[in-house]
Amino acid sequence: MKRDFKTILITGGAGFIGSHVVRRFINNYPGANIINLDKLTYAGNLQNLTDVENKPNYTFLKGDIIDSLFTDALFQKHNIDAVIHLAAESHVDRSITNPTEFAMTNVIGTINLLNGAKKAWANNAEGKLFYHVSTDEVYGSLGATGFFTEETAYDPRSPYSASKASSDHFVMAYHHTYKLPVIISNCSNNYGSHHFPEKLIPLAIHNIKNNKPVPVYGKGENVRDWLYVNDHASAIDLISHKGKVGETYNIGGHNEWKNIDLIHLLCKIMDKKLGRPAGTSEKLITFVKDRAGHDLRYAIDSTKLQKELGWIPSLQFEEGLEKTVDWYLANEAWLNNVTSGDYQKYYEKQYVQR
Ligand code: NAD
Ligand code: TYD
Repeated sequence: MKRDFKTILITGGAGFIGSHVVRRFINNYPGANIINLDKLTYAGNLQNLTDVENKPNYTFLKGDIIDSLFTDALFQKHNIDAVIHLAAESHVDRSITNPTEFAMTNVIGTINLLNGAKKAWANNAEGKLFYHVSTDEVYGSLGATGFFTEETAYDPRSPYSASKASSDHFVMAYHHTYKLPVIISNCSNNYGSHHFPEKLIPLAIHNIKNNKPVPVYGKGENVRDWLYVNDHASAIDLISHKGKVGETYNIGGHNEWKNIDLIHLLCKIMDKKLGRPAGTSEKLITFVKDRAGHDLRYAIDSTKLQKELGWIPSLQFEEGLEKTVDWYLANEAWLNNVTSGDYQKYYEKQYVQR
């Protein structure tokens, strides 16, 4: 049976994945009110949504999920029947520098939203849903073989993944204790358009374009399992409407890449797109000091989602990566805008001074 929501609160909708989810929900559910709540941190950008901002079923609200007065009032004012919760601090390197900020937004912010939903739905939670968007990083780090399944024990190892694991536990605790209707999904690394250039793929594209060194942590041997962001958005759409309450779903496209191999592929694509002689961009690859506690390998088994709900990823990696590069090259203004100001200070501290 497909759930039918009238008012959907999407948190973190001005960020990378959130903006793709907001766009998809606005277009797929014209009869539903889509409310995007976002604090607009350095990672949140309303330019990500200019193509849909005037749609009649869309409302943007600026607010901070750490503020419980704000989140309580939000649930009182709007008759919210689904929450798709993406708002978070999301970058592992920043979590190593400032773990408290991650605990505040990712844990306390999530609890505030859970409390708002719990109060609003106290008399009737039928047909309501609190959908928590999480990461495969809560499962820790794999060796050379094996996959994360929904049964894998949590073993977070960075302040980011510890904060996400904690928030996942609170979400499930509210389900078991207060019968709040919840679903969690844990997804692998996403890539695609509108990705803030502090993360590996957009940072490398930005640097290659500007003939700057491409920093590869350690020996580049770490493995990530990459999924095109629209495929994550399609999974969230499907799970929120057809997933089973109280369940967790892993999302991933069986697409593992060693960082160094991925960067080599990206260099090849960039040479082609920029009309540079083959091998030009590879010269920019620079091995730098490794990330503290760097997880070796992530790999997701998404059999449950594929078998139970029929989800399949739409794109092969090479095709998705080319589309992503095309988007960044065609959207120079976006890239220049997000890399002006504070980004420079972050970059200096993260890469130049260490
Ligand atoms: P992002 O950093 O691009 O966006 C996060 C958004 O949350 C931003 O718009 C930001 O302004 C907003 N936000 C941050 N703190 C807030 C606060 N206190 N109140 C309100 N809004 C706030 O992140 P993303 O990569 O789009 O990730 C979105 C979600 O998906 C996160 O929960 C993340 O843990 C999860 N996730 C990400 C990935 C990935 O590869 N990026 C993979 C799996 C899961
Ligand atoms: P990132 O995009 O930060 O995602 P996550 O840490 O959540 O997986 O990093 C992806 C991989 O790339 C990770 O193994 C760290 C590595 N990395 C680099 O080698 N250089 C960089 O400049 C960055 C940002 C990441």
